[in-house]
Amino acid sequence: MTPTNPTPARTQVGIVGAGPAGLMLSHLLHLAGVDSVVLESRSRAEVEATLRAGVLEQGTVDLLIETGVGERMLREGAVHHGIELRFDGRGHRIALSELTDGRAIMLYAQHEVIKDLIAARLAAEGSLVFDAQDVSIHDFDASKPHIRFTHADRKRQLACDFIVGCDGFRGVCRASVPANVRHEYSRTYPFGWFGILVKAPPYSPELIYANHERGFSLVSTRSRDVQRLYFQCDPDDSTESWPDDRIWAELAARLATQDDWTLREGDIFQKGIVAMRSFVCEPMQFGSLFLAGDAAHIVPPTGAKGLNLAIADVCVLSDALIEYYATGRRDGLGGYSALALERVWAAEHFSWWMTSMLHRFDDRDPFQQRLQLAQLKEVARSHAFQTALAENYVGHPIRRRASPEHLKRRPQKKRRGAYGVGAT
Ligand code: FAD
Ligand code: DHB
Repeated sequence: MTPTNPTPARTQVGIVGAGPAGLMLSHLLHLAGVDSVVLESRSRAEVEATLRAGVLEQGTVDLLIETGVGERMLREGAVHHGIELRFDGRGHRIALSELTDGRAIMLYAQHEVIKDLIAARLAAEGSLVFDAQDVSIHDFDASKPHIRFTHADRKRQLACDFIVGCDGFRGVCRASVPANVRHEYSRTYPFGWFGILVKAPPYSPELIYANHERGFSLVSTRSRDVQRLYFQCDPDDSTESWPDDRIWAELAARLATQDDWTLREGDIFQKGIVAMRSFVCEPMQFGSLFLAGDAAHIVPPTGAKGLNLAIADVCVLSDALIEYYATGRRDGLGGYSALALERVWAAEHFSWWMTSMLHRFDDRDPFQQRLQLAQLKEVARSHAFQTALAENYVGHPIRRRASPEHLKRRPQKKRRGAYGVGAT
């Protein structure tokens, strides 16, 4: 692909990965007049078409609106004030908003957030380099950090003050840190999620998280015409072994209720399987290299936390970088890892707890199965348990060291010339 603009040779913050973390970081920095370049290995079309998350926490929604990228989400997304927990053939509503002083979640697909952020960065003449190959990071433990990559068959080098690895779980940044200085904690679950997209009107006004002896299932939504459903499966299973009829029969069995709730079949137009894992890398800073989002941590999707954690990380990190460029102080940068990890571990716990409560574990003995049912009944009965679930699900407010006053400052006009800007 021919670049439409020359790629800069130098920037303040070099960002690897144009997922939610990398794009949001670049956007937040731009609003405070800090320069960045985002290097992404895939094409823009691929990035914008990757189907993943759908649930935005209140803090994520607020940040998108506050920073001028929430307009389409407000128009096309759906606000939900509750979720249903379903087990033993009965539904139990968790009244998210009543339990959290009016906080709520927004159903708006991750790839739509991505499209909105890319559009905003390009409108501001931001530097996004798609199709960047062989990205490697260098000298982040010394004074001259830089990133090397190949673009349009040319080898390039980007010098920067800081490198931020927003390149997801399988990216290059975390792997570039010597193994003896990072501490990794992980758990792999013995199941995956089979996800489908269906052309059909909504099955339910609120998301349904269902526990059943055949396994977990989840009813979610994307729009008035497209619905998102998931069910627990063998992580090594393949989509070929699940013809549509088998999927509908399985979902009908797992979602059946005592009052004959029925699932209308629709046209399934997308199928996929995801593995389930918990993972944390500590710390999230190594010299001039910072990790954010899935590059530093993974949660199983049951708590809908991954995208939201990625956004919270870069919110904290952008404050620290902006403080550094405004004052020369490094306190925020030095405190980033500890502050981000507090939220990360809380989300790890919540996601693990939801996963443990809702899935079928083949290796659990009858005693453990009874404990799982006892936990579900406690949540259905207890206001205190429901409040804890609701607070975690809608997300705690993002803890920031400083007031985000800088967001209100007018963005500096981007300098043209030396760097060259635009999508390449
Ligand atoms: P990513 O989105 O993984 O982005 C990383 C980017 O870096 C990618 O574009 C990749 O191409 C690029 N990259 C990788 N390597 C390189 C390289 N070497 N050089 C350059 N670029 C590179 N989270 C929620 O909050 N709510 C949900 O409801 C939810 N549901 C989910 C459902 C499913 C089925 C799945 C799979 C995930 C779900 N998640 C959810 C998790 C969420 O999608 C991720 O946590 C989120 O995408 C993390 O964003 P990120 O920017 O850190 O990483
Ligand atoms: C969706 C994904 C999740 O991980 C979840 O917990 C709820 C909804 C979704 O894709 O809609």
